[in-house]
Amino acid sequence: MEKSDLTVVSDIAQFLEVEELSEECRELISSLPTEKCLLFGNLHQYRGFWHPTKILQTILTCQNQFEARDSDIYLVTLPKSGTTWLKAMAFALVNRTQYDPKSTQHPLLSYNPHQLVPFLEFPHNDVVSSTPRLFSTHLPFVSLPESVKKSGSKIVYLCRNPKDNFVSRFHWQNKLRRQELGSISLEEAFESFCRGVYIYGPIWDHALGYWKQSLENPERVLFLKYDEMKEDPGNHLRKLADFIGCPFSKEKESFNVVDQISELCSFDHLSNLEVNRTGKLPSGVINSNFFRRGEVGDWKNHLTPQMAQKLDEIIKQKLGASGLTF
Ligand code: A3P
Repeated sequence: MEKSDLTVVSDIAQFLEVEELSEECRELISSLPTEKCLLFGNLHQYRGFWHPTKILQTILTCQNQFEARDSDIYLVTLPKSGTTWLKAMAFALVNRTQYDPKSTQHPLLSYNPHQLVPFLEFPHNDVVSSTPRLFSTHLPFVSLPESVKKSGSKIVYLCRNPKDNFVSRFHWQNKLRRQELGSISLEEAFESFCRGVYIYGPIWDHALGYWKQSLENPERVLFLKYDEMKEDPGNHLRKLADFIGCPFSKEKESFNVVDQISELCSFDHLSNLEVNRTGKLPSGVINSNFFRRGEVGDWKNHLTPQMAQKLDEIIKQKLGASGLTF
């Protein structure tokens, strides 16, 4: 496999630093609501969702330039919803003929899943060796490039219950924040989360956008939940394989392969690999930061009953009669 030769920056703040904005982006920003980002710089509300300045630029570039193919597969998540896990699973599934999941040479043993499935909206080299092409994105449905929307490609959306998403995000932000800025308090982060003002937020509109698409176009959009996937990864792998067009047979051996992929991509296995304990991505993120606890319900260790109730109420009200529940 080819190694990416993207420049590695020191940390995420450096990654988010804006080098140069296009005229289009500068004009757009001047017309958008703007707030401070807890992590670094500013957030701009574009088509209902909040993005750091640099990411807004990369979104526009991607909308203008990205050419989708009907055979593409897009893995869509909000940050801290299980992106790393979904990337690992999809990569292992799509490439299982080329890379035996038991092989000691499997790419997931020496690459972080983010190196194997690039983000649509971040700079990436053409190292995508999968056929079909696999991409991931945190973009809300409204902001996907038109070529993706119009193509016959497959979209897999993975969401996570908002309370765990918040807690995971809270820890993540503090790990990524430059030390000299001090830590973000739980209360401060919670207040932003309840208002929906954080990178790619709000969670309710993000999830609803894909939920509606999955109801209208079930053959194009598969809607999954992290919490359910944790309960039964094997069945989710089969569902995912069916959906993306590489189904498992009903033969006994296929059950072994499902188990092998499930084990290969499990939290315990991935988080203990050398590459994920010591490596670093071009965005400056340390690979080990993608692995914290990987559990459902960790919010109980962090949120007060009042916080949990407040967030539950907001989510219930925002999801309304959509049929989507957490
Ligand atoms: P926690 O912070 O709750 O532990 P993302 O990949 O979207 O950044 O999400 C990160 C979250 O997914 C973290 O949650 C992380 O621990 C968890 N995670 C990472 N790899 C996982 C895996 N293989 N299985 C289950 N959860 C995983």
